[in-house]
Amino acid sequence: MSQPALETVDLHAGYGDVRVLNGVSLTVGRGEIVALIGANGVGKTTLLRTVSGLVRAKGGTISLFGERIEALPPHDVTAAGFVQSPEGKQLFLNMLIEENLLVGAHNRRAYERRKQTLEEVYELFPILAERRTKLAGTLSGGQQQMLAVGRALMARPRALALDEPSLGLAPIMVDRLFEGIRKIRQLDIPIFIIEQNVFQVLNMADRGYVLEQGRVTLTGTGKELLENQHLKSTYLGL
Ligand SMILES: Nc1ncnc2c1ncn2[C@@H]1O[C@H](COP(=O)(O)OP(=O)(O)OP(=O)(O)O)[C@@H](O)[C@H]1O
Ligand SMILES: [Mg+2]
Repeated sequence: MSQPALETVDLHAGYGDVRVLNGVSLTVGRGEIVALIGANGVGKTTLLRTVSGLVRAKGGTISLFGERIEALPPHDVTAAGFVQSPEGKQLFLNMLIEENLLVGAHNRRAYERRKQTLEEVYELFPILAERRTKLAGTLSGGQQQMLAVGRALMARPRALALDEPSLGLAPIMVDRLFEGIRKIRQLDIPIFIIEQNVFQVLNMADRGYVLEQGRVTLTGTGKELLENQHLKSTYLGL
């Protein structure tokens, strides 16, 4: 069997003496959209930051297409093909939309192909093409999120992670953003997505994981999770 795009095994991480992740094991298969659900402060962003090399793992392993990456510095993780669109977007609002996109193409492999990737991103999110010469700060919240996702794509990820892309967006913009995310999967880029918008993300995802007290407590297909009573009462208020 081929190696999964991303795999963490018994991952431990935290800040100083504070433990946040206490043995997280999960996989994202090639071609999959996998959702991570969890309450505020449970450690979802910490998990992504650990995979990205921004937080050092205290135990366990992280593999990207079968290659161990838990000891790599962040730029080597990106160069290996794991790219995240971070929580809170972190765009340069005083730079042009196209300049923000090009910032994403900083690794060498991506830089050489930046023109082609730019066209691919513009095809996914036509609003970015229309406004390519405008300042990023002139975009609406939803459009800025598209820009953040587009910038991550500019790094030519082999696996893409999105940290709460729908945060603060109007429902119509969430629909458009998710439409773009589905198209990214069609480009054969597996997606690991953290979302508070539980109902919509599980409808889109192939599989999902629920993170509670530093561990995965529940996993299944998107459909199975949506039918799970614990998930419904805890995360959907049903
Ligand atoms: N840089 C840091 N230093 C110390 N503690 C931190 C740091 N970043 C996060 N934490 C703590 O680690 C825990 C997990 O935070 P994290 O941001 O990973 O949660 P999250 O699940 O992404 O939450 P949210 O849904 O609010 O985005 C929280 O208790 C948080 O206060
Ligand atoms: Mg977070």
